[in-house]
Amino acid sequence: MPSLLQAMGLPHVLSRSRYTEDNLDQAVKQGMEQYVILGAGMDTFAFRRPDLLSQVQVFEVDHPATQAFKLNRLAELGWEIPSNLHFVPVDFTQESLADALKGTSYDLQTKSFFSWLGVTMYLTRNEVFATLRSITDIAPVGSAVIFDYFVPEEATPHMKEMQEDLRKIGEPIKTTFDPSTLAFELESLGLRLHENLSPSDIQERYFQSQTDGYYASKHVRFGWAVVE
Ligand SMILES: C[S@@+](CC[C@H](N)C(=O)[O-])C[C@H]1O[C@@H](n2cnc3c(N)ncnc32)[C@H](O)[C@@H]1O
Repeated sequence: MPSLLQAMGLPHVLSRSRYTEDNLDQAVKQGMEQYVILGAGMDTFAFRRPDLLSQVQVFEVDHPATQAFKLNRLAELGWEIPSNLHFVPVDFTQESLADALKGTSYDLQTKSFFSWLGVTMYLTRNEVFATLRSITDIAPVGSAVIFDYFVPEEATPHMKEMQEDLRKIGEPIKTTFDPSTLAFELESLGLRLHENLSPSDIQERYFQSQTDGYYASKHVRFGWAVVE
């Protein structure tokens, strides 16, 4: 029988990417020219979406170890790296995102779209806030960041079991956010919470008509914040 982690993992990964890329698509139509993927992992956006890639500069920001693994894997597969895909190694626990991007071709004057999927839960609250603050430091007004976040343990059934599963695989959850105070917390960083999707919103938007038994995770929400 699949663990709770397996049962919620795949549909969640698919729906968070779909949410992000649907909104990126709209943003690109309105002139967004830079897409920064924070904690990109094995995300294949730059290879899957040539339609969008042709219109944006893409910056994959990731932990140096993960990024080195990915670059090796891309080389093994013989996948050609597009000229507008840039790799930026950063450890969010040690370095400032703003400083790292300033040393690249990232343009500080260009409105940018950031995604931060499957990462906030693995960092401390201070590390999450420091990185969000970096975004407001280096991205002009109207730039956006989409992220997913865990809700506190007491907020949903099975959250304890889920946390235990993650701890066992060496990925303990360090940070959750209370959805009712998130907008206020982001405001202090210069971010306006534009959308804060609940599990039932995600279920309705992406899983309602599915016949494969997939469903939205009850523990995770999607946030979309805009630089003010
Ligand atoms: C669960 S994966 C998510 C990958 C991808 N964003 C996705 O949606 O599938 C977590 C990612 O966060 C990155 N990460 C975790 N801790 C990090 C840190 N301290 N600094 C930079 N990246 C980190 C990992 O390297 C990994 O790529």
